[in-house]
Amino acid sequence: LERTFSIIKPDATKRNLTGSVNAVIEKAGLRIVAQKRIQMTRQQAETFYGVHKDRPFFGELVDFMISAPVVVQVLEGENAIAKYREVMGATNPANAAEGTIRKLFANSVGENSVHGSDAPETAAVEIAQFFAGNEIVG
Ligand code: GTP
Ligand code: MG
Repeated sequence: LERTFSIIKPDATKRNLTGSVNAVIEKAGLRIVAQKRIQMTRQQAETFYGVHKDRPFFGELVDFMISAPVVVQVLEGENAIAKYREVMGATNPANAAEGTIRKLFANSVGENSVHGSDAPETAAVEIAQFFAGNEIVG
């Protein structure tokens, strides 16, 4: 089984949608094997999205990610990384398929409700940024 890292972003936590997002995740056959609600620090958000640091929206993205609590998660399942990307839908909710989390809940390309890792290497780095090994119980 594969693991991926997920964040339920501030736009969703503010609208009390964490359970609704989790219901879509679980219905898709992904298992939530670690989960906590945290207030990200600016430094954590800048590290997490470091790959985008030269993009014009970086400042806006970091400000958004620390604007309210987030829920960080580890999801486990067969092909969890690709499966969760499919369940999330396109980055811009205007392009997201019916039934995806972003189609159902996202406000905009910036406030797009969830994050999911894009490859095994990034999943491992992202999980390790937020969880100790003994916090993940499969
Ligand atoms: P993540 O799972 O959050 O990494 O989304 P993604 O992989 O679908 O998209 P990508 O990694 O390309 O971009 C990371 C995040 O930056 C997106 O989820 C958006 O929240 C944000 N983002 C991307 N493009 C824009 C943009 O044009 N404007 C703003 N404000 N945010 C953007
Ligand atoms: Mg990404």
